[in-house]
Amino acid sequence: MHTPASPIPTTLFSLQGRVALVTGASRGLGLSMACSLASHGATVWLNGRDAAGLTDAVAQAQAAGQAAGGRAQALPFDVTDEAAVTAAVHQVVDTQGRLDILINNVGQRRREPFDALPAQALRELLEANLVSAWHLCREAARPMRAQGFGRIVNVTSIAGPIARAGDAAYTTSKGALEALTRALAAELGPHGINVNAIAPGFFATDANAAMVEDAATAAWLQQRSSLGRWGQPEEIGGAAVFLASRAAGYITGQVIVVDGGYLAHF
Ligand SMILES: NC(=O)c1ccc[n+]([C@@H]2O[C@H](COP(=O)([O-])OP(=O)(O)OC[C@H]3O[C@@H](n4cnc5c(N)ncnc54)[C@H](OP(=O)(O)O)[C@@H]3O)[C@@H](O)[C@H]2O)c1
Repeated sequence: MHTPASPIPTTLFSLQGRVALVTGASRGLGLSMACSLASHGATVWLNGRDAAGLTDAVAQAQAAGQAAGGRAQALPFDVTDEAAVTAAVHQVVDTQGRLDILINNVGQRRREPFDALPAQALRELLEANLVSAWHLCREAARPMRAQGFGRIVNVTSIAGPIARAGDAAYTTSKGALEALTRALAAELGPHGINVNAIAPGFFATDANAAMVEDAATAAWLQQRSSLGRWGQPEEIGGAAVFLASRAAGYITGQVIVVDGGYLAHF
């Protein structure tokens, strides 16, 4: 069933006619999700702080979208700048006339024992990983409410439900983002807006480059998880397309774990 304002896709996973904003999309998982959305027909606005760094990412997403009619645009801004968030969402809606999909993907990390981390560093990390998503959801929810349709996906982590020593700030931020996902699912559901999360496990992105090179980490991951290997960035896109598509119409307030069986494995 579709709301009247919602264009009807021709297939279950088609995103043709949809407009998406993906934060932190200049590389890594954000870029992969942007390419996957474009390859299913969406027009995708890719965000990052470094405008120059977005040029190649936009070209990749544009190429990925070619066969399905997907398109890509750059949208440089800092997600911790509240005024910039408001302006960016207005720019998308003014240009496209709508905003259907928001993926809050930016995430920063400070691996330090909790009593060694200054409170100001915790505040800054929460600004980047949690408060920014709050602002983006608030701004995106306005056009989504007016359309009677929206899909919000927050990128959390397996560090939401489980914890490891020396990573308290990141773990706290991702646990809170998971809770925000459920809270907004409840608040925005009556307006036709689904809010879900993707919790990645261990992915071979730039942020993990040193660990990916480390043989001991590879051996540990091999015995610790069901698939026994690092995830490749392109393996995150399927969950993003699914949650954005008609296929996930009755799914909200959920976390899809994409971790090669790390959480399931004992
Ligand atoms: N990789 C993993 O194994 C893994 C596991 C669990 C969860 N995650 C989560 O998945 C997400 C993506 O991870 P990743 O490994 O792909 O990250 P990444 O390689 O470090 O990429 C981060 C992206 O975010 C952008 N960014 C950072 N701060 C920003 C800000 N304040 N405003 C706007 N853009 C900003 C960066 O571009 P600029 O530098 O140009 O701003 C870049 O495009 C994060 O939320 C992370 O916590 C990742």
